[in-house]
Amino acid sequence: MKTNFTPFDNVDLKFCIAIFSAILLITGILKKIWEIRKLPPGPWGYPFIGHLTLLGTNPAETFSKMAIQYGDIFFIRMGKWPTIVLNSKEAIDEALTKMPEIFSDRPKFYFNNAINKMKGLVFGEYSQRLRLHRKIATGVLQEFATSKSAPTEYLVRKESDILIQTWMQSQDYEFNPIHDIEMAVAAVIYQLLFGSNINCHSDQTFIDMVKNLKTVNEGASAGNFVNMLPWIRFIMPSKVKQLLERLELNKKFAEKCINESLPSYDKNHERGMVDGLITAANKYAEKEVHRDGITRGQIYSTIRDFIGAGIDTTSTTLQWTILLLSIHTNVQEKMQHEIDDILGGRRATLQDQGRLPYVEATILEVMRHGTIAPLNIPHSTSSDVKLRNYEIKKGTVVFCNIYGIFKDQNIWTDPNTFRPERFLSKNNTIIHERADIIATQFGVGRRRCIGDTLSKRELFLFITSIYQALKTNLRSDPSYGRIINLNCKPTPYKIQVNPRY
Ligand code: HEM
Repeated sequence: MKTNFTPFDNVDLKFCIAIFSAILLITGILKKIWEIRKLPPGPWGYPFIGHLTLLGTNPAETFSKMAIQYGDIFFIRMGKWPTIVLNSKEAIDEALTKMPEIFSDRPKFYFNNAINKMKGLVFGEYSQRLRLHRKIATGVLQEFATSKSAPTEYLVRKESDILIQTWMQSQDYEFNPIHDIEMAVAAVIYQLLFGSNINCHSDQTFIDMVKNLKTVNEGASAGNFVNMLPWIRFIMPSKVKQLLERLELNKKFAEKCINESLPSYDKNHERGMVDGLITAANKYAEKEVHRDGITRGQIYSTIRDFIGAGIDTTSTTLQWTILLLSIHTNVQEKMQHEIDDILGGRRATLQDQGRLPYVEATILEVMRHGTIAPLNIPHSTSSDVKLRNYEIKKGTVVFCNIYGIFKDQNIWTDPNTFRPERFLSKNNTIIHERADIIATQFGVGRRRCIGDTLSKRELFLFITSIYQALKTNLRSDPSYGRIINLNCKPTPYKIQVNPRY
């Protein structure tokens, strides 16, 4: 007799589904636990937002405290992004120096993508194209800003003189020096871009450039939020739109520079870095797209990178210098003695770099104390990788906690004291092992800053020129704070100046 009986007839279908789902869930949880066991240690976070609420106003400082508990490599989640934080120079070297092919990418953050679809220089993904882009940009910087024939020394002197004159006119008053510092540093980069014979202070394009730069920086904190929690852009669409418009302004500015320079471009008489980039575009992207994938537009976008990465960084370091030297007038006086002794009244030249150890030590100590890029620019892993015994997944965000290194008591003993002498040996020479730690301020590995030589030259010449001519005194509360945005600035302050002669 034929029956319709099957072995499953007695088993409730719902029960089967429940058992199956439970097995899936338990396997999923076990797999997660197994993966977590292989990750660096770290605190538990919340769903969706991860550890964002822990970070506070100074994330790098929070990371340094967490490193005491979790060690020099720990794991957190920044919103949707798995993240490792490297808290010692050794940990940074193990990752970025020893495995550069894997640790040189940039995170695919919302705004990194919005800037040139990650095909630019500073926020571009690590690839053959990026290596060529870096080579082109480095070549242009070397030729027009750091070569022997480059006008950098002349330009910094010229802009220092304008700055000193402006401040002398206010010598009976207290004033906030930040705007003048920004204009002076911006003017140097602007003239390196377009040619040193430009009177940029009355040039509307220059004024627009400084304005653009400010608007992008002002919108940066909203940008950080959207980078970490991309869904937040649906909650605050107007902020995102505003920032995208600001970035677009920067793009339009770079395009305008090229369009204005192209008609008068002469390959035999290049005026500055913009002409250098036009030459590079003609060489590398003659067929519109080079075999390494770079386009003319991407080469031209280097103008935005030089402006974005080269002005605010150097200007912020100078803002910290003036603040710290106006508080620590004893350091200022020691620097002035050295300047008088070695230079004997003449102007400093680039040949004097290395001949004024106290000035150099002061610049290093300003960089340490101010720590203008506390977490550098975030990196990202381009494939799964083993770091120590931890298994790090592709696409993990990598933060280098430079602030933690610069405030590490095991390295500096009294890290919160401003004391340039810590960089000087008994023979009054720079202690190179210590200076090397400060060099991490410019990044480590294949994405290291390409403008470090230029910025060190600018800082040396600006600082010696200003303090050769003037004394500065603080006229506001010396307990300054930090404004952490794209980089770390001191809270606004006021100074008063006196001529030295
Ligand atoms: C005190 C001044 C400066 C500081 C502290 C500084 C710091 C940095 C840092 C931390 C990075 C990221 C490194 C990394 O990802 O590992 C960087 C990248 C970069 N910097 Fe600077 N910078 C300064 C001045 C300049 C100047 C003057 C220029 C050019 C005019 C410049 C151009 C760049 C460029 C193009 C990159 C991107 C490199 C890449 O992603 O491959 N920087 N800088």
